[in-house]
Amino acid sequence: MSSSGAVTVAPADRVRGSVRLPGDKSISHRYAILAALADGPSIIHGYSTGNDCASTLTCLQALGVSIHEASGPSTNGVSYMIEGRGLGGLLPPTGTLDAGNSGSTMRMLAGVLAAHPFEATIDGDASLRRRPMRRIITPLERMGARVSAVDGRPPLIVQGGRTITPLDFHPEVPSAQVKSALLFAGLHAEGVTRVREDIPTRDHTERALQAFGARVDIGPNGIALAGRQRLTGRTVRVPGDISSAAFWLAAAASLPGSDLVLEHVGLNPTRTAILDVLRRLGARVETHVESETAHEPVGSIRIQHGALGATEILPSEVPGVIDELPVLAALATHGGELAVSGAEELRVKESDRISALAEGLRALGADIDERPDGFHVRGGRRLTGGEADARGDHRLAMAFAVAALGATGPTTIRDAGAAAVSYPEFFSVLESLRA
Ligand code: S3P
Repeated sequence: MSSSGAVTVAPADRVRGSVRLPGDKSISHRYAILAALADGPSIIHGYSTGNDCASTLTCLQALGVSIHEASGPSTNGVSYMIEGRGLGGLLPPTGTLDAGNSGSTMRMLAGVLAAHPFEATIDGDASLRRRPMRRIITPLERMGARVSAVDGRPPLIVQGGRTITPLDFHPEVPSAQVKSALLFAGLHAEGVTRVREDIPTRDHTERALQAFGARVDIGPNGIALAGRQRLTGRTVRVPGDISSAAFWLAAAASLPGSDLVLEHVGLNPTRTAILDVLRRLGARVETHVESETAHEPVGSIRIQHGALGATEILPSEVPGVIDELPVLAALATHGGELAVSGAEELRVKESDRISALAEGLRALGADIDERPDGFHVRGGRRLTGGEADARGDHRLAMAFAVAALGATGPTTIRDAGAAAVSYPEFFSVLESLRA
C-alpha cells in the first residue's frame, strides 16, 4: 500500500482455496457492549480485527470498563477479557468518546448512555459526522434522555435520564442499529420496551441478549424486552463475518474455474440473503451449518463459479443485503446484470454508496446507471481497469478490488486503506487466493 493508501490490483484468472474470516463486526460490537453491562467477567474469542470494533472497545474503556487481551485459540483472531460493570454501572467519561468511522458504535452506545445519569459526548470522523442520528435521538428522548446534535448529525451530547421509561416504537427506517439502541436503553427501564419491524433486520442483539442470560420475546407484535434484567458475563466466540466473506463469494462467483471454501462463517438467516442473490446470478453455493455458538448458527460455505445471469433486488430484500450491495454491483460487472431499488439508505452509509459506487465502477469501464434509490449494472462489456476512489469507505475499497479482478488492465484503488475499518487483512488475503 502506498503512503496515500492506494493499492493496485491486477486482474485474476480465478480464485481458489479456503479462507477464515475476521470475526463478525455486528456481533463483536454487541458482545462487547453486553459484556460491559453484565455482572462478572466475559471472554470474547474471535473479536473483529477491524477498526470499527476497536472503537467500541476504546469507548467502553473510557466509560470505566476494564478490557484486556486474553489468550485464545490462535486460529480465531483476537480474544478479549471484559470485566462487566453491571447494569447501569458505566462511569462518566473524562473526555469525548471517539466512535471513529463506526455508526454502530455511536448509535448503540447512545442507547446505553441514554440510561446512565451523566453527560457524554460521542463524536466520530468526517464520514460519521455526516450520518443521520434523528432516528435514535427521537425515540431515546421519548424514553427520558436528552440528546443534542448538529442538525441531527454528530457529535451527539447524551444526557442520560435518571430513570428511563420503556417505549413501544416502530422505526421509520428498517435498522438493526436503531432497534439495538432502543433495546439497550430499554434493558435499563422498568417495564417492557418493544420494537416493531415491517421488514426484519439482523437479529444479533436479540440473540446476544439471550446468550448473556436475558429473556427476549419475539413475535408478531415485535421484539419485547422486559427491563432491569441482569446479564451474566460469559465466554462467547464470534463467528466469521459473512459481510467480509461476501467479497470472496463475489470474486469466486465472477471468475470461471473458481472454487472457494469459507470456514467458520456466521450463517444467521438474517444475514444470508446474499447467498440467494448469488444463486440467482448463477453461482453454485453450498452451506453446511456445523454448530451454534451463543444462539448464532456457524458453518462453512463452498462457492463455485457458474455462468452469470440477471437478477433484481426488490425493496423488501434490501435490509438483508444492505452491506453487500456494493460488492454485488462489482460482481455484476463481470458479465451479469443487477438492478436494485428501495436502497436509498445506501446514500447515508459510510459514503453516499450509490453515487460513489457508480462513479468508481464507471471509472473502471462499467455500464452502471445511478437511481435515487438504487442502481442498474449491465455487465455486457469487460472492464478496462483504471483508477477508482473508495472515498474513505471500506466496503467500496473492497468492492472495487473485486471488480478489478475481471478487468483487462490493472486498477488503482485510492483510499484502499479504508478496508481496515472491517477487514484489515483483505488485500493480503486477496493475493493468497489467486490461482
Ligand atoms: C448494522 C446494521 C446496518 C448495517 C451496518 C451494521 C448493525 O445498519 O448497514 O453495517 O450491526 O446493526 P442500519 O441499522 O443503519 O441499517
